[in-house]
Amino acid sequence: MNNDKHIYTIFGASGDLTRRKLIPALYSLYVQNLLPDKFIILGAARSPLSNEDFRNIMKESILNSNEIHDKSSAEEFLKHLYYIGLQYDNPNDYIQLKEYLEKLRSKFDIPGNTIFYLSTPPSLYKVIPVHLAAVGLNETDDGWKRLIIEKPFGFDLQSAIELKDLLLKDWKEEQIYRIDHYLGKETVQNVLVTRFSNGIFEPLWNRNYIHHIEVTAAENIGIENRGGYYDSIGALRDMIQNHLLQVVGLISMEPPSSLEPLSIRNEILKVFQSLRPLRREEVAKYAVRGQYISSVINNETVKGYREEKNIKPDSKTETFAAIKFYIDNWRWGGVPFYIRTGKRLPTRVTEVVIHFKPTPHFLFTRKNIQEACNKLILRIQPDEGMLLEIGIKTPGAGFEVQNIDLDFRYSELAHQRIPGAYERLLHDTIRGDNTLFARTGEVIEAWKFLTPILEEWSNNPNVPLYGYPAGTWGPKEADNLFDDENQTWHFPCRNLTNSNL
Ligand code: BG6
Repeated sequence: MNNDKHIYTIFGASGDLTRRKLIPALYSLYVQNLLPDKFIILGAARSPLSNEDFRNIMKESILNSNEIHDKSSAEEFLKHLYYIGLQYDNPNDYIQLKEYLEKLRSKFDIPGNTIFYLSTPPSLYKVIPVHLAAVGLNETDDGWKRLIIEKPFGFDLQSAIELKDLLLKDWKEEQIYRIDHYLGKETVQNVLVTRFSNGIFEPLWNRNYIHHIEVTAAENIGIENRGGYYDSIGALRDMIQNHLLQVVGLISMEPPSSLEPLSIRNEILKVFQSLRPLRREEVAKYAVRGQYISSVINNETVKGYREEKNIKPDSKTETFAAIKFYIDNWRWGGVPFYIRTGKRLPTRVTEVVIHFKPTPHFLFTRKNIQEACNKLILRIQPDEGMLLEIGIKTPGAGFEVQNIDLDFRYSELAHQRIPGAYERLLHDTIRGDNTLFARTGEVIEAWKFLTPILEEWSNNPNVPLYGYPAGTWGPKEADNLFDDENQTWHFPCRNLTNSNL
């Protein structure tokens, strides 16, 4: 995989994502010499901007980015930026785009290698790729062409299938890179390394030794200025269909035969094909949804979801979702998976907790099963790290057992900077490595798995939507997902530093 000379075209170039994530990520790659010696970043959007305007806006974004430390090469980098205004639905504008790309190529001696990043509303995923193909910008005889899209990949199973059919008419699967920024996180990739580079874990990583698995992605923020988007989407589509299921895929996949992208993605696809969808009558019990209501946090009144800007006052959109489910295969038969996500929870934390089965006989006093299970915690963010909880003898008389943590934090690798998710993923789009991108089959299987929940939630008025006060861990009904009354969700705050609380 090479760092070929190329043009990185970004549609939606005047938008928020381009400013906050894409340009800072490309700049970071530039500073690290990870971009080829010849490249152009071509912004494309509806606003009529000059190259100068575009460069100035992006300069601001680089200078304001907290993720960038060395800003000294900004001016040099900005010389690689160009801009073209276009109307996304006007076929003639794509002819002009093609001509402009050709002009830039011949001026800077760059072959036909081109990336088209759609940082646009998802409705344009059905428009831009078709127009690009109509003028031959999907053709690879003069160099590679790659199409990058952001989630959501469809709104439900039906629309995902339609989108897939539309894209695959003009583009090959290996040309399409579906960004799931969770897969760009170092700690998510570390799941693979933890499992497959340590002889001690893999023999235990199955139904014989694992009691249950939890994945939590909690956010303390609300929906910020994204009401319009969020109210039509909700937590299940926003976080579970993509990010959390991808994490489940990495935790539960079989060992791949190699690190080839297809080898890894095929194993993840098999997991997705084995997800057992809930039966309709199970949805109310095993898929809990909630919506935050107003409360007072640190002496300040926090708005409830329905009072937020651009939210319908009677909105039924969930801001919290928790599901218990099973993976029907030999490795995981009978092991419950619990996943949850929510806005306006007490803290921001994403972690995976593997609960190992307790010893077959309790030689020492253990209060309950929760206490007796060893836990391996993969802390994805913040305070990235890993933690193994084991029992040790409490010093003193008798044989009291207490649980302690063997704790590793990425911050201990002080000399190694953790690259941002977009930085890693954008670099992979340039290198042509699609290991960390969702493939068509996975997207479709994930929708299939969630369809009964989505349909019950939207069609069955008897399925409750629980209110939960902002700043709490969601509806208490989510605790009832566990069969054993002594079991609860792992309380993630325990090892976070105060600044994260
Ligand atoms: C995005 C969701 O994909 O992920 C947001 O649309 C969410 O609603 C965000 O806040 C969370 O990402 P991270 O990296 O902050 O966990």
